[in-house]
Amino acid sequence: MKGIFIAVEGIDGAGKGYIMMKLQEYITGRSKKYDHVLLTREPTNSNIGQKMREILAKEDDPKSGARKCLDLYVSDRKQHLENHILPALEKGYVVLCDRYKYSTMAFQAAQGIPLEELIEIQKDFLVPHLTLILDLPARQAIARIKYRDWQGGKEKFEDPTFMETVRQNYLLIANKLPDPITIIDAGQDKQETFKQVKQAIEKKGILPY
Ligand code: TMP
Repeated sequence: MKGIFIAVEGIDGAGKGYIMMKLQEYITGRSKKYDHVLLTREPTNSNIGQKMREILAKEDDPKSGARKCLDLYVSDRKQHLENHILPALEKGYVVLCDRYKYSTMAFQAAQGIPLEELIEIQKDFLVPHLTLILDLPARQAIARIKYRDWQGGKEKFEDPTFMETVRQNYLLIANKLPDPITIIDAGQDKQETFKQVKQAIEKKGILPY
């Protein structure tokens, strides 16, 4: 595997979009060797991913349909890995993925599926060189979502109590798993948050050039 795989995680409203954009800029600006960056996300735009997005827009209760959600997210990820992530890494790309298997651990555990089971069914999915978890209190994230989507409807998982459980699950996962995961304080302004992201990348030494 010649490429570098970085995942960005966090509750809704954590600011992943901005961090993904800045990361791409930072990495491509660093060296000509990083001209090829794949910016990608889950759920994807595949049929399965689109089905999931419909459910997110339509349903209200964050805890309903946990098994169905699990099934769709994991099938979508399997295809994403086989068709996009692994081929790009083979070609030496830097792959930046907005949400990955840790989303399934944090969200579907909050829906009531045991965390151990979520870890087990995803144990063969490639571990990123670094996963950044953007951490902030759910109430702060909700305020950002309301500001951003003031005309849009509420999505299935955008419930304050549910989101705080997801947040706690992320913190638990970061402690429990041996995977390289760094928690970033995303409760401050976005430039400060990005500074921390850069520091985490430097500290891990995952970009040799
Ligand atoms: P997004 O808002 O980042 O596009 O993600 C869509 C929603 O899907 C978000 O609320 C998080 C949720 N999700 C899961 O519950 N499990 C998963 O495995 C993934 C990838 C996303």
